Amino acid sequence: MNPLETLIRERITAGGPMPVSEFMALALGHPKYGYYNKGDPFGVDGDFTTSPEISQVFGELIGLWAAVTWQQMGSPEKTILIECGPGRGTLMKDALRAAANVPIFAETIDIHLVETSETLRACQAKTLSAHRATWHNTIETIPEGPSIFIANEFFDALPIRQFQKELGGWSERCIVLFDGALSFESHLLTEEPFGLPRYTNVGDVYEICPMALTFVDQIAARLLQQPGAALIIDYGYERAMPGDSLQAVRHHTFTDPLTDPGNSDLTAHVNFGALAGIATHAGCTVFGPVRQATFLRALGILERTQTLLGNALPNQAGHIHAATQRLIDPLGMGSLFKVMTISHPGAASPAGFEKHPEKKGLQE
Ligand SMILES: C[S@@+](CC[C@H](N)C(=O)[O-])C[C@H]1O[C@@H](n2cnc3c(N)ncnc32)[C@H](O)[C@@H]1O
Repeated sequence: MNPLETLIRERITAGGPMPVSEFMALALGHPKYGYYNKGDPFGVDGDFTTSPEISQVFGELIGLWAAVTWQQMGSPEKTILIECGPGRGTLMKDALRAAANVPIFAETIDIHLVETSETLRACQAKTLSAHRATWHNTIETIPEGPSIFIANEFFDALPIRQFQKELGGWSERCIVLFDGALSFESHLLTEEPFGLPRYTNVGDVYEICPMALTFVDQIAARLLQQPGAALIIDYGYERAMPGDSLQAVRHHTFTDPLTDPGNSDLTAHVNFGALAGIATHAGCTVFGPVRQATFLRALGILERTQTLLGNALPNQAGHIHAATQRLIDPLGMGSLFKVMTISHPGAASPAGFEKHPEKKGLQE
């Protein structure tokens, strides 16, 4: 049995059923045994692949998006460029290379990375060795000023709570020890948790991600005070939907979330509607979500790919073409992943959302 599972068992024995959110936080973020602190999980030899690891074009387009957003913000003298959960640092590296096409922007940005994993911080420092960056555990310590946030596959890694509708009210899904094994069990709550839908069917499971709501609340508070925008890209749904979306992936294959905790990636679908609700309630303007394919096409992914193909060696062309297709595949990442922007109140429509002024439902 791995040391993290031993620790989880001890906590359940001492403290009783463990909510899914606590299990997820330990499995992903335990300082020594947590998944993100143990090694580099990305790429073919790892457990999963993200968009910036598939194609350099992804980060490049986001770098240009940030430069255009900076112009829409009135080209402030200093801008704070923040990435939440930068992984290997690949997206930021590609984004900065493309942003260099707008020299005043590139020369006046201050790079801040929100990352809790020491292992990945070291990896990001290596990838971004040509740049000066500052690391943070939370958004709260980032200096004030006009800001552009980027978060790709960050929110899906934050711990969720799962609630199940019972005849007698709501129960919370927890992890218990049953027949000597970690197992899911629902426990009836005495008080109804805030934020769950009123009309539901018995047996339905709903998820809430308190940490995601807090992050967006903090981002919105900053964007109210200063010009800026936050680009959120993730897989998820537009409004609260019943369903258990907790999933574990190891070596690119789905696995049991409770088996060998700390050694597989745990994620859950992002409720974009809940994030938009927090930002709108705070007074910010929300654009999207739109499908990733729609966003990347609007930013010129096909044109950029053609340019790359024009300069590629024959043995590289197939890979470049396939990578772009994967990002915009209507049956895969192109529609599974959604893109949303939270902006300073009254901001102009950001690049990639031109036909989508304000949230009116998912559009092609
Ligand atoms: C799935 S990876 C995404 C990586 C990267 N954005 C990409 O697209 O390749 C999730 C990232 O979020 C970081 N992370 C997870 N939970 C976090 C938290 N609570 N605070 C800050 N970073 C966190 C992980 O360490 C990792 O860098």
